[in-house]
Amino acid sequence: MKINNARYVESALHFKDLTRSDAPEIAFMGRSNVGKSSLINGLVDRKNLAQISKKPGKTRTINIFELSIQINGSNQKINFADLPGYGFAKTSTKMKHDWKRLIEEYVKKRHNLIGLILLIDIRHDADYKDIDAKNWIMAYEKPCLLVATKADKLNKSKVNLQKGRFVDQFLLIPEQIIVAFSAKSKIGKKEILAWIAQQVLLKNGDTVC
Ligand code: GTP
Ligand code: MG
Repeated sequence: MKINNARYVESALHFKDLTRSDAPEIAFMGRSNVGKSSLINGLVDRKNLAQISKKPGKTRTINIFELSIQINGSNQKINFADLPGYGFAKTSTKMKHDWKRLIEEYVKKRHNLIGLILLIDIRHDADYKDIDAKNWIMAYEKPCLLVATKADKLNKSKVNLQKGRFVDQFLLIPEQIIVAFSAKSKIGKKEILAWIAQQVLLKNGDTVC
């Protein structure tokens, strides 16, 4: 899969404000500050397509980006959805409730959603919110890829150790993979793009080899 172009489309505070799209969509989910926007920028090779927040918990909207890609020799569009992060300590009860409603409605009703990428910071064990998020994605029967972010902060053996801990904590089965990613070194980028391409091909009804 080759990405030829990427552009920002829109931000929506409420699900009903999102424009309907027929482009297959991959959503990025995870706690606030985990590196969702940085991962999107890293995948599309752009520094500021998705806004990197200095202060965690700022993003309250779903932000949609449209990518022009080449896959199996043909051109098509896909979307990336940058979802607001969860778990920010200073969030009020109402904001937590609004977040849950927005995400729940999005996963349930977004008809072009073909997969979710769940991000966890490689330096910390998963907590109940991360485990909940993964179980919840599974409950909606959406394909899910786990990405452990900020891999540049640990050495290689610690990265592998922590990946193993996540496999246990999330009770991953062999088909569910976990990729370590760094926005700095771009380690893991190829594997993540390969997973996305696989979801797009499955959606297109093409043979995945
Ligand atoms: P919210 O939108 O607030 O939910 O945050 P986010 O999940 O989009 O995180 P964002 O990409 O804005 O990154 C948060 C902070 O972590 C920024 O200061 C980034 O520069 C930093 N960061 C993200 N990814 C990496 C990485 O792979 N390595 C390092 N060292 N820092 C990273
Ligand atoms: Mg963000």
